[in-house]
Amino acid sequence: MTRESGGDARRRVAIFTDETGWHTRKLREALARRGFEGRCVDLEHCRFDTGASPSGLVIPGFGRTLPLAGIVRGIAGGSLEQITKRLGILHALRELGVPIYNDARAIERSVDKSMTSFLLHKAGVATPQAWAIEDEAQARRLLMRETAAGRCLVLKPMFGSQGKGLRKVGWVKGEEGSDWEDGDADGGRAVPLPDLKSVGGLAYLQRFVPQPESDAAPGFDWRVMVIGGRAVAAMKRVSPHWVRNVAQGARSVASPLLPGLAQLAEAAAAALDMDYAGVDLVPDPASPQGAQVIEVNGVAAWRGLQKVTPFDIGQAIVDDLLRRRLGVPLLAGGAGQVCQIGSGVTRSA
Ligand SMILES: Nc1ncnc2c1ncn2[C@@H]1O[C@H](COP(=O)(O)OP(=O)(O)O)[C@@H](O)[C@H]1O
Ligand SMILES: [Mg+2]
Repeated sequence: MTRESGGDARRRVAIFTDETGWHTRKLREALARRGFEGRCVDLEHCRFDTGASPSGLVIPGFGRTLPLAGIVRGIAGGSLEQITKRLGILHALRELGVPIYNDARAIERSVDKSMTSFLLHKAGVATPQAWAIEDEAQARRLLMRETAAGRCLVLKPMFGSQGKGLRKVGWVKGEEGSDWEDGDADGGRAVPLPDLKSVGGLAYLQRFVPQPESDAAPGFDWRVMVIGGRAVAAMKRVSPHWVRNVAQGARSVASPLLPGLAQLAEAAAAALDMDYAGVDLVPDPASPQGAQVIEVNGVAAWRGLQKVTPFDIGQAIVDDLLRRRLGVPLLAGGAGQVCQIGSGVTRSA
């Protein structure tokens, strides 16, 4: 029996990922608990082939059939052409009626930080003012005005992740350990924009939201996971450095899901039409909900968050996909329940 033909084809869910590991294992286990099979497949290896199968797509591991659904766990970086094709496969699956979790359109909206800022602003979700400007002279004029008003902006790579490549520009206050020889009396100095060529010819800028912090109490931001429209878990990411990604050395600390935080994160996920989302927020006493949304991640990792919450995030993702996107009747609570798709019935452990 080949891998393609093994098992019940109606119960196979594609886990799109460029690397297998903890997350894909959790998703496969969660699917298996409900009587479904998760098969990992790299979008790089999927292809369009209009002669090969009735669908015009080849998804390795699925033979001539299509997955019941797809969960997007990772898309490897590549050229504009390669990324367009990889997202194109996800778009094509949607066109063929295969639910993709998160949909390619939602992933595109969140990967583009300027579109995220625009959609959050449009939906009235508290988020720092932001700009995306190609014209270097315009960007410099904007920065001059912001600097004159004593404001600091964050320059970010538009497709950035894991806190890489962020820098402060404008009026930047001196930081712990920094040597501001040419600094002003308030410990700040004017930091100009770098050559825009070094950031893809685009200035994506967001107003910096300063955090109270001290040696004894380093600052933090929040990561909130929203699944199926509901905020399910939160953590603080604590670090003396202002870029508080776990990948940059921040410490994950359990955090209650404060009502304002949950409300903001849910509104942010809804504004980008996400099935699930990892929402980054920074505390802001001036905002009615006590925070502002910095970023919305459409392909969010949850290993750090899972370490500080008992809530099973992988299972919640799978159950939301099954229940809400596939109409599989699941009882609240999980184990030992009957999951039915078409004529197939499985009792999960
Ligand atoms: N405007 C801002 N104000 C305050 N802190 C910020 C701001 N933008 C980013 N940060 C800090 O940097 C981190 C990374 O920024 P983010 O926009 O989430 O980019 P990435 O995609 O790299 O995670 C945030 O989680 C936050 O700690
Ligand atoms: Mg982030």
